[in-house]
Amino acid sequence: MMYQLGLIGYPIKHSLSPWIHEHFLKKTNLSGSYDIIEISLEENFSERIQQLRDQQIDGFNITVPYKQTIIPYLDELDANAKRIGAVNTVVLKDGKWIGYNTDGIGYVRSLEEAYPELFTNKSSRVLLLGAGGAARGIYDALTTSGFTYVDLANRTLSSAEEIAELKLPHTKTKTFTLQEAEARLAEYDVIIQTTSVGMKPHIDKMVISLDHLKPETIVSDIVYQPLETTFLKTAQAKGAKIHYGHTMLLYQAQYAFEIWTNQQVEVGDMDEQLKSILEGR
Ligand code: ATR
Repeated sequence: MMYQLGLIGYPIKHSLSPWIHEHFLKKTNLSGSYDIIEISLEENFSERIQQLRDQQIDGFNITVPYKQTIIPYLDELDANAKRIGAVNTVVLKDGKWIGYNTDGIGYVRSLEEAYPELFTNKSSRVLLLGAGGAARGIYDALTTSGFTYVDLANRTLSSAEEIAELKLPHTKTKTFTLQEAEARLAEYDVIIQTTSVGMKPHIDKMVISLDHLKPETIVSDIVYQPLETTFLKTAQAKGAKIHYGHTMLLYQAQYAFEIWTNQQVEVGDMDEQLKSILEGR
């Protein structure tokens, strides 16, 4: 079969997803295409979605600003997409559109790939900075994969508290302001930066100071433009182990590709290749 795949969002002209999925198709010897399907805010979203139904697209990713908008158009929602309240992957299965969210699980896969020892006993203390859509997905994926101690800190405390409502019976979660988190940094084994702070063009900004960071802490930033954020550079200079944001992009795509094709695909050296692409931007 020829897989018809694509990405819906706005603006997405510079998305790296076509590059990733075209590599995955090649690696698995499957034929198909992955197209950019840009829908601007002036367009009629329902009509554009109906066109995709009519053409029987096999699957698509959906990104900003439509991860919630798409939900009423779906026939079924996977359990984790339901908990997160946002969908980034849709598959056509037996005539039905089923929505998934691969962002959080993709992030957790990327972390496991880089630091497998964290996953042998999931008792590490994890701090998430931020409480937007990305944090929600990552929190859900970490707790469902068995991590017990996952705390949340955000500028707006109430948003962190809302995410903490997803907590499972085994989960222990505390919520903090960013100032409180700054003071408590040394308590954590893993710190995950999920806000947009530090993204181009505001590359000198950091969401919190890392003065209290202890060496050997794993510090992760989901921002990948630039790849080496000030947050990661500062952490590294303090002896932290770092985890780059572009890996989340690769592994959320890997999981989406599995959902569409039922095929396993290795990321392999695409990690290094994507790094070079991003460094050249
Ligand atoms: P996404 O879905 O990509 O996670 P989002 O939902 O817009 O994006 O979430 C953005 C996150 O970045 C939020 O946690 C936001 O904090 P608030 O909930 O207080 O708005 C955080 N954020 C954005 N700009 C920030 C800034 N200048 N300082 C601190 N936090 C910031």
